[in-house]
Amino acid sequence: MAGYLVEDARKVTTRRLQEMKDQGRKIAMLTAYDYTTARIVDGAGVDAILVGDSAANVMAGYQTTLPITLDQMIYHAASVVRGVKRALVVCDMPFGTYQVNTTDGVRAAVRIMQETGCDALKLEGGVEILDTVRAILDAGIPVMGHLGLTPQSINKFGTYTVRAKEEAEAAKLQADARALAEVGCFGLVLEKIPAELAARVANEIKIPVIGIGAGGQVDGQVLVVADMLGMNVTFKPKFLRRYANLSEVMTDAIGHYVSDVKDGSFPNENEQY
Ligand code: KIV
Repeated sequence: MAGYLVEDARKVTTRRLQEMKDQGRKIAMLTAYDYTTARIVDGAGVDAILVGDSAANVMAGYQTTLPITLDQMIYHAASVVRGVKRALVVCDMPFGTYQVNTTDGVRAAVRIMQETGCDALKLEGGVEILDTVRAILDAGIPVMGHLGLTPQSINKFGTYTVRAKEEAEAAKLQADARALAEVGCFGLVLEKIPAELAARVANEIKIPVIGIGAGGQVDGQVLVVADMLGMNVTFKPKFLRRYANLSEVMTDAIGHYVSDVKDGSFPNENEQY
């Protein structure tokens, strides 16, 4: 499949993402949860693929990301890895696998790396999980941080609205970003925070900052693939740009199939043995 705007056909590594930031080249990231979608996303030239725990919402229909398990994330990530040639594949560590203690966190991290073949992991949180982040890094596993709206903490926040609008929360976010960069994370996702704060963080820390609902003055963007393809028409946050209306395309195609089956026009004589 032809790629679009692929500046470099080599496999993307964490080092290459750093070079992109250093050279002022933007990083394009999307989620994927299955082999078929991952092949398309990778072939279209995305630099990094996130096997997000948003699989809990998108693939399984849960209201939050909390119910998805380690085994389920491993299944999704291994499926994605089989479909990817170029993009860096980052897998979310699911809720409950790294919040209890460092040993459990490292054990879960090792399992994901060993059983999926993905390139890196993403964890939500700042200084409160720093020891675990450090231990996972010490095991030789690249880690991406995730600050701002961290959906695994939705029950603590009580809302999916914009985070870090108040000075105290913004200051904590900046301190967390600094700590994650200093400990050795290769990148950071900032979700749903004021654009001006995200720009400040991206300016201050040396590692790539990937935004979702964090404005354009960061080093790259990530979106949930089903949302940007218009598969879920009821989800309309301000930050989301829809590049297709797959819901309409699929409904139309499936509707045609149903009527062809019902009126006997499918299969025709060329579609049989
Ligand atoms: O799980 C996910 O899809 C994510 C992105 C929203 C960044 O964490």
